[in-house]
Amino acid sequence: MNPDLDALKPYPFEKLAALKADVTPPTALAHIPLTIGEPQHAPYIGALEALVAHQQEMARYPATTGMPELRQAIVAWATQRFGLEGLDPDTQVLPVNGTREAIFAFVQAALDRSRPARVAVPNPFYQIYEGAALLAGGTPLYLDCRAEHGFRPNLDAVSADTWREVQIVFLCSPGNPTGAVTPLADFQRLIALADEHDFIIASDECYSELYLDEKAPPPGLLQACAALGRHDYRRCLVFHSLSKRSNLPGLRSGFVAGDAALIGPFKRYRTYHGCAMSLPLQHASITAWQDEDHVLANRDAYRETFAAVTEILAPVMDFPTPEASFYLWPAVPGGDDEAFTRALYAEENVSVLPGSYMGRAAADGHNPGSGRVRLALVAELEATVEGARRLRRFIERQ
Ligand SMILES: Cc1ncc(COP(=O)(O)O)c(C=O)c1O
Repeated sequence: MNPDLDALKPYPFEKLAALKADVTPPTALAHIPLTIGEPQHAPYIGALEALVAHQQEMARYPATTGMPELRQAIVAWATQRFGLEGLDPDTQVLPVNGTREAIFAFVQAALDRSRPARVAVPNPFYQIYEGAALLAGGTPLYLDCRAEHGFRPNLDAVSADTWREVQIVFLCSPGNPTGAVTPLADFQRLIALADEHDFIIASDECYSELYLDEKAPPPGLLQACAALGRHDYRRCLVFHSLSKRSNLPGLRSGFVAGDAALIGPFKRYRTYHGCAMSLPLQHASITAWQDEDHVLANRDAYRETFAAVTEILAPVMDFPTPEASFYLWPAVPGGDDEAFTRALYAEENVSVLPGSYMGRAAADGHNPGSGRVRLALVAELEATVEGARRLRRFIERQ
């Protein structure tokens, strides 16, 4: 087997299972997992109906490029949402089976192993960026996202010599696990660096539709390009998904959009890889990209949960004011995220994810995820509020 497989790190949930393995939680309390990154709200029913209505089309092979109607629906959505101009459905858009698959596959297709191949990732981070880089023969470069820098990477901390070895920079906005939103100015600073040092920006925007202030939707990378008049989106690619927006993580549907010079070769790679989206799923996706009412209702539900949880936890935990995503990223009293996680599980049967499991230690030995935990506020309001109450009770007892 490929020896690079040995370089893959244990997934955070494997580490969490090991951490909790010898702990017996109180049986009188039902388990509340605040760990899962999977939406629990009802899936968008219009998409499910379209899926059923088109089930007979399972009898046909789909094309890698997807149906023109799907690419059109994606273009219409992205144009409206991000104020774009002239996004070409034939050359600048490709449907994919969710962002996870596309992020992984894109790195395999894009990395040039014949020269230094660093892949910059935010730290802490969604683990696929790192695994994709390692399996493509690249070397991750961890860009720490610390509180003092708004939980965003400090682009000016990277030297010109290092940038020259970078082939791909991942951004995640809104961020998992921090919820931080990249402002337009940061996107534009990175675009300038990409031009100077010739790298690709891959912007993971799968949480872009889960924002708390209706008047302030998070900006995106293509929006930053459009504001610069850069309508060829040179060196830029965005990754979007229906998983969080429409509560359809099982549909496995998303898209990549941006630079035609990147989409073209990626399409060629995907033809061989064999990952075209089946036709009923494409119909379901069209329906979902064309409807905003269900997304607004989804945001309303998250707003309610965030408000309730914030009220309970703000007096006892310090966390950045959530702007978007469905995560809370609090610092733990005492500063030891693993010990906190274990004790909380042992005493209150509530599971959280230690922040250090999503990060890597920098050269100075400091892991920017440590001292925090990730709380996913995805369950029904009642269960999430009960989880928050137990967390508070646990902290107040310490
Ligand atoms: C930051 C981030 N990117 C990508 C994904 C993958 O989502 P999907 O493949 O369902 O689009 C997730 C899922 O949790 C995520 O948290």
